[in-house]
Amino acid sequence: MGAMRRRVVALTGAGVSAESGVPTFRGPEGLWRRYRPEELASPEAFARDPIRVWEWYAWRRECIARATPNPAHRTLAAMEEVLPDFLLITQNVDGLHSQAGSRRVIELHGSLWRMRCVREGRVWEDRRVPLPELPPRCPACGALARPDVVWFGEPLPKAAWTQAFRAAAEAEIFLIIGTSGLVEPAASLPRWARAHGARLIEFNIEDTALTPLADEVWRGPVGETLPRWWAQFSGAS
Ligand code: NAD
Ligand code: APR
Repeated sequence: MGAMRRRVVALTGAGVSAESGVPTFRGPEGLWRRYRPEELASPEAFARDPIRVWEWYAWRRECIARATPNPAHRTLAAMEEVLPDFLLITQNVDGLHSQAGSRRVIELHGSLWRMRCVREGRVWEDRRVPLPELPPRCPACGALARPDVVWFGEPLPKAAWTQAFRAAAEAEIFLIIGTSGLVEPAASLPRWARAHGARLIEFNIEDTALTPLADEVWRGPVGETLPRWWAQFSGAS
């Protein structure tokens, strides 16, 4: 079957946004090197000190508001235009894939630009930077609002996980892009794809927990390697 008819699925992690200036979690400058996630990215931390958690997320929103999509984000948006069955699964909460033009995106860990009412569960977009008040309140009922992201110890959104799990089983080519492959259950998707016969291709600057599974590895900054791979795959080169 022609390359352009192949079912391609991509899983991205913080590394796809690194060249946009968004800090990753576990690299030398990673967020978890400087902050303790259990103090900032967990339901217990939020219950203990919502303002402290919101100060961290307000800072991350301000960093990300200055970021722009890089060639890797743009290549993934271009792939969606020409591959009928292409699907993008991301662990990122920065919204840069949508900003680059990707429309079919599964956000496994939610979005920094969405708020959720802790009382009613209602969700809404709020892209204001800086936020006028911390912690933000639900506009409908006045209860506390939290970032609509998945924290350590929380389950993933059921619909998103089910869709990602099914897409991985049907993939013929599964791209693993800019993720350390350390955090479950996202890190199981490449294994599941491979168990169903997919060819795994990893794009990273270094070896990861998933490298041993990969059929092909493109070592280097993904802003350079992914456009090169795509030009070769789509015959555009
Ligand atoms: P987990 O226990 O599955 O996390 C396993 C990995 O997460 C660890 O191997 C480590 O790499 C990292 N991790 C967990 N606790 C950490 C810590 N205290 N310091 C540094 N790294 C840590 O995570 P979980 O509690 O089962 O999380 C459930 C879901 O929430 C997962 O999908 C996870 O990816 C997600 N999550 C989202 C955010 C976010 O800010 N969006 C932050 C953390 C976790
Ligand atoms: N090009 C390609 N890969 C890169 C680049 C780059 N320019 N820069 C960094 N990387 C790679 C790193 O080598 C690393 O393997 O990106 C990966 C980033 O890994 P993490 O910081 O662990 O981020 P991620 O895998 O997305 O973390 C998963 O953990 O804390 C939770 O929910 C949070 O979604 C996050 C999840």
